[in-house]
Amino acid sequence: MDMPVPSSPEELPTYGIIESADDVTDVVLAAMAGAPNPRLRMVMAAFVRHLHALAREVQLTQDEYGLAIDVLNRIGKATNDAHNEGVLFADAVGFSTLVCLLNNGGNGPTETAVALLGPFWRDNAPLTPNGGSIVRSPTPGPALFVDCRIIDPQGRPIPGVEVDVWQASPVGLYENQDPNQVDMNLRGRLHTEEDGRFWFRSVKPAGYPVPTHGPTGELLRAQRRRPYRPAHLHVLGFKPGYRTLITQIFADDDERLVSDVVFSVTRALIGKYRCHDPDETPPSPDVQAPWYTLHYDFIMQPGEAKRPVPPIK
Ligand code: BEZ
Ligand code: FE
Repeated sequence: MDMPVPSSPEELPTYGIIESADDVTDVVLAAMAGAPNPRLRMVMAAFVRHLHALAREVQLTQDEYGLAIDVLNRIGKATNDAHNEGVLFADAVGFSTLVCLLNNGGNGPTETAVALLGPFWRDNAPLTPNGGSIVRSPTPGPALFVDCRIIDPQGRPIPGVEVDVWQASPVGLYENQDPNQVDMNLRGRLHTEEDGRFWFRSVKPAGYPVPTHGPTGELLRAQRRRPYRPAHLHVLGFKPGYRTLITQIFADDDERLVSDVVFSVTRALIGKYRCHDPDETPPSPDVQAPWYTLHYDFIMQPGEAKRPVPPIK
């Protein structure tokens, strides 16, 4: 089928009459070919080709088409200031991790130190001095002392990095999901010192099920998948002149490392959460054994700093 592309918006476009299913993709591609933005043109053409190929491959029925539209609509309706179903769905089908690793995989398939942002990051976490605590309301569980460094690819410390940290509690809930925690519990914003270090006190995070009340949960149940994430600490490093670092450090003792529902665990991100015995002197007199320490060196690459859009408020 010969389909001329309009040379200007004023010119009446002629894509052709559709004779059968075979024609649809080419006609749609022709209709989109005049987009002046080359990236939009390329991405949307690939989107249409792959979407149409999917429908052809599975011979999508009208009912299934209706279901897909309904799921899309309900993902939108389930999203609000406190919950981001769109991010959750993208995470659960591995799309977030794929995009994350495609954009950060310079060191090889599993060596990259980045991970998806997830739906629980909140902007404006309380400023926390190094050595301070992000436990802001009583949160039973083993104490965790985090002591990390941010360095450049040559191993030089990067001072002045704004570091957001956030995590679930030992019962596996983020503060915004849990009436027993105060606002911003287990969230903090620190700054690296001259030697690149930042350090704080917390409680050992637990693994948790992702929210399953929406379409993502329906999909997981239909696929007989478990909704669990292994225990982890989220870290977001921001400093002008460096690519924003978004990552998670997973607990090495969590048996679910190999079954993360959002496919985010790479080898480089498994941290050593060291468990200390009662006969060791704790870092603070109020600490009861067992208590944990976590050390980790994060590498930030020179580049453009961009803060992500917060998925929730
Ligand atoms: C999280 O780690 O906070 C998360 C990531 C993806 C889906 C749900 C939660
Ligand atoms: Fe998380």
